[in-house]
Amino acid sequence: MTFRTDLGYARDLDAADELREFRRRFVIDDPQLIYVDGNSLGRLPRASLDRSRNLLERQWGSRLIRAWNDSWFHLAEKIGSKIARIIGADPDEVIVADSTSINLFKLVMAALEVRPDRVKLVTDDLNFPSDIYVFQYTLNLARPNRRLAMARSPDGITVPIPLLEEIIDAQTALVALSHTAFKSGFVHDMAAVTALTHDRGALMLWDLSHSVGAVPVDLGKSGVDLAVGCTYKYLNGGPGSPAFLYIRQDLMDHLSNAIAGWFGQENQFGFDLDYRPAAGLRKFLTGTPPIASLALIEPGVDLVLEAGLDRIRKKSIAQTEYLIELWETILAPLGFTLNSPREARLRGSHVSFGHPEGWRIDRALIDRMAVIPDFRRPDNIRIGVSPLYTTFEELHATATAMHRVVDDRLYEDYPIEQLGVT
Ligand SMILES: Cc1ncc(COP(=O)(O)O)c(C=O)c1O
Repeated sequence: MTFRTDLGYARDLDAADELREFRRRFVIDDPQLIYVDGNSLGRLPRASLDRSRNLLERQWGSRLIRAWNDSWFHLAEKIGSKIARIIGADPDEVIVADSTSINLFKLVMAALEVRPDRVKLVTDDLNFPSDIYVFQYTLNLARPNRRLAMARSPDGITVPIPLLEEIIDAQTALVALSHTAFKSGFVHDMAAVTALTHDRGALMLWDLSHSVGAVPVDLGKSGVDLAVGCTYKYLNGGPGSPAFLYIRQDLMDHLSNAIAGWFGQENQFGFDLDYRPAAGLRKFLTGTPPIASLALIEPGVDLVLEAGLDRIRKKSIAQTEYLIELWETILAPLGFTLNSPREARLRGSHVSFGHPEGWRIDRALIDRMAVIPDFRRPDNIRIGVSPLYTTFEELHATATAMHRVVDDRLYEDYPIEQLGVT
């Protein structure tokens, strides 16, 4: 079948989609609403409704404190072991805790401690700002003579490996990067960058927030040391659901948690006044996990495991490719630029389109066209593809709506001032 811009073609693609049944497993109460922001906040899995009812009524309501021993106490490890299967880790190498930023803080502090003679932390300017704030702060805290070295993307879209080769050196303690960049969707070559990092004697940390559940990752095969990631995007864990952290098995005994607390204590209910870290990853816990939010991660993770990352990636590539073909045909002539890699191999599961009026176009899409993408400064409209529920028809409608908003100048009705959450 050759590419066409008509709705019939989108429907043909949906009919041939082998993951199409998964859409019914999500709450979609307004079929007219086109949600292309699953890369920010994933949709609600139907199974999470039953899970939350069970958690509130049966566990909290009836079992009360006994529920800790029934199932809550080891929930962080249980869900971590399922996430491990999605990212190519061993079951006891992943645990769920805190937010991505806090996990990053813990792992960066731990990594800097085991490379005491090295002064550099290497990252790139496509990384998520929160990660960079954490790096700046931890470097200051750990030792004032340490510094951040940042590879600068030549095009705002990609960071070619030679740029990293130039700055990762014998002074480097840690290389910490986002596997899939939040703005452009660029995907680093995990195996190659990790090998380069190890070659120079540094540790490698990946932020998997925009990859997990959408882009295949094999931490074990790539020999990755450390990783963090969030669960509310392609894992559909819910707003503010806790994040995960990964430490390679053989490193675990050498690393310590800078935020000690009773959930990371060896014998938590011994109430000993001296801190002795628990064995394995549990020492990277700190305080009481938010059980209600933690429990709701599991249904989304189960859906990803059931669908399988190979099928998810195959559909994700077909859908981002389709979107880019629509851009070439109907959006580029209206001044939209492609701010994501053209090559599928280098691209995650969202596509960014730039336009000088990006912010007002985004507002008009949400208010007038019932299309929900998101916006990232200065001019990026991000279209997120979540293969478990995004349809080709929705992508067709999104591109058509973007065309209409610009062609009919509908965006002119919206103010230039930006809202709190974009
Ligand atoms: C790549 C990346 N890292 C870190 C974060 C921050 O996560 P958290 O709010 O859980 O700390 C985000 C949030 O969207 C992100 O996209």
